[in-house]
Amino acid sequence: MTDHRSWETAEKLPRDGLVSPVVGDVGTRSRARASRGTWLGRLAVLTGLYLACTAAFKGQIRFGNQPHVGVEYRVGDVKWGPCTGEGEVEGAECGTQCKCMCSLLQSLKWQESGTDIVCSVPLDYTDRDAGVAKIALGRYKSTSGNRKGSVFLNPGGPGSPGKWLATQMGPYVQMLLGEDYDVIGFDPRGIGETEPQTQCFPSPGTHFAFIANTVLEHGFDVGPNLTDPKNRDHLIHQQREADALWQTQMRVCEQTMGDKLRYMGTVNIARDIEFMTSLLDGEGAPINYYGLSYGTVLGQFLVNMFPDRVGRVVLDGVVDAIDWTTFPAYKWGRHLQTSSEAAYQRLMSACAEVGPLRCALAKKENEDPDAIMSRVESFIEDLHYHPLAVHNATMPGILTSGRARLLLFAAIEAPELWSIAALALDMAMNGDGSAALDVQRASIHYDDLQRSAISCNDNTVPDVPTAEEVIDEHLWVLEHVTRFSLAGMVLETDFGCHHWPVTPPERFTGPWNHTLRNPILIVSNTADPITPLATGKLVNERFGSSSRLLVQDSAGHCALAMPSLCMIGNMRAFFADGTLPEEGTVCPMDGSQFPDSDAVNAYTVEDKKMLESARRVAKAMLKKW
Ligand SMILES: *[C@@H]1O[C@H](CO)[C@@H](O)[C@H](O)[C@H]1NC(C)=O
Ligand SMILES: *[C@@H]1O[C@H](CO)[C@@H](O)[C@H](O)[C@H]1NC(C)=O
Ligand SMILES: *[C@@H]1O[C@H](CO)[C@@H](O)[C@H](O)[C@H]1NC(C)=O
Repeated sequence: MTDHRSWETAEKLPRDGLVSPVVGDVGTRSRARASRGTWLGRLAVLTGLYLACTAAFKGQIRFGNQPHVGVEYRVGDVKWGPCTGEGEVEGAECGTQCKCMCSLLQSLKWQESGTDIVCSVPLDYTDRDAGVAKIALGRYKSTSGNRKGSVFLNPGGPGSPGKWLATQMGPYVQMLLGEDYDVIGFDPRGIGETEPQTQCFPSPGTHFAFIANTVLEHGFDVGPNLTDPKNRDHLIHQQREADALWQTQMRVCEQTMGDKLRYMGTVNIARDIEFMTSLLDGEGAPINYYGLSYGTVLGQFLVNMFPDRVGRVVLDGVVDAIDWTTFPAYKWGRHLQTSSEAAYQRLMSACAEVGPLRCALAKKENEDPDAIMSRVESFIEDLHYHPLAVHNATMPGILTSGRARLLLFAAIEAPELWSIAALALDMAMNGDGSAALDVQRASIHYDDLQRSAISCNDNTVPDVPTAEEVIDEHLWVLEHVTRFSLAGMVLETDFGCHHWPVTPPERFTGPWNHTLRNPILIVSNTADPITPLATGKLVNERFGSSSRLLVQDSAGHCALAMPSLCMIGNMRAFFADGTLPEEGTVCPMDGSQFPDSDAVNAYTVEDKKMLESARRVAKAMLKKW
């Protein structure tokens, strides 16, 4: 924990595949560096540091964290102290008094955030004079007495904070990964308590007020006849509005955030993980990582940028990093939504199976799932012509066909939501849309432009598409791939990137198939509406013998959404000693897609504990997505 961290590893720039900034940028930056790099300036920074340190140290004493009193701080130390937030588990630690990992010639800084002091890393790894980013960390320590290192976690999004995964979920995450590792959660750049934060609008309220009741919030209204030119015109009209709304948001962001936006992308987050691994586990230590959904993009960056550092890495719910970085977002549905229909079918079959008592959309025992689906579909079609007035939702509004589609899509992503979404839809079909509106709004997080700050820095957008091009693409996907095409685009809010105002200092452009020091484990489930098994297979094939695919036969977004003992067992074995599942392993589901207490009661105490831990993590992630 207190290993010395030199600058060497990160200094070896550029690595292969890293695109240098445009020449003009370099010139501007070197001039800025020269003017900042005077001894006088450095002295001022050092004096500032000393004062900040003293204040921070006093703060610790005041809050009574005795362990740190009288401890000598070396450059490169991290000190951990108790966390102070709500809902934190016993034994969780927050990165306090994290001495800046900088040599004396770098700008040094301590930063206090509440009583936690966060870890400082270079804001810009290509320009060490650009200042620091302050990463909020949480840790839940290995409990086995046989510590093997740290595992960094990312819950996806992008845009989701991750510190809580250690501080609130540490023991449950350890049930998944084994007790030999310290569980490390952190808020990635731009997100949560980490600084710089992405905050383009004055407050979350003003951001929501901006998009509320626009197409970006209630979704696209798709008419039932996909070949009708009137439908196409209507969609183009909505797309023009969506695009102008994105352009406005990006301009707001440019105005409030300016250049700070450049430092939020995945390349930097991967570098931060490497940096913090060296800090916590020692120079050159293996990097261990568990990432879900977007976290698999981060994982592909990480292992390909640092192939000789790969320790135990698990990716669940795979997005193809090549699509993510080079394919325009409005075309992602073609690849990302190939299992959306399968997931929808699974929802309907499970609903029919459990019957009306547990799934309100079913009207009798053993009903034909297609009958349930066609009732839902004709309701959504009706909404296209007659939106439902909902005067008594928490926030009054209208239930449009686009919004109903969004609700349904959020539900098939999250099996935990299925019974409540079914109930809400059934109520709406009977004239009361209040629950449908409430559930739909609760399923979306409007975190300013935190997500765009990552995805738009990652994605190179070659051309600005016309509204006609965007809609013709979606009409094709609607017809050939899934009816959730435009819902997917609204929920995965990455399609305004052609208006993104800045260029990041580095981009990683592959290769994406490095031979890795240790093989990684890729996990996919058979009916994932947004990260299909097909992508898991593709990425697994790309890595050749450097990866192994584990399949779980379940619906929902990520295998973790419906965790099985088989998957948990395979993950624990992998983290324990690198054991890979047999080629072609398919894990069966445990229990039904609808909560089923009888089925759970049939397990041993230990198995039940494992399943419940995994579900707890999944459920908590769902809330934070
Ligand atoms: C869909 O629209 C096309 C073009 O207007 C029309 O020819 C076709 O009959 C419509 N289909 C249905 C099922 O209404
Ligand atoms: C909302 O209004 C509808 C229609 O007037 C009514 O049937 C329903 O009970 C109300 N729901 C709530 C939650 O107040
Ligand atoms: C990586 O992929 C490229 C392009 O498909 C291929 O030429 C190369 O041999 C692959 N490298 C490895 C290590 O498999």
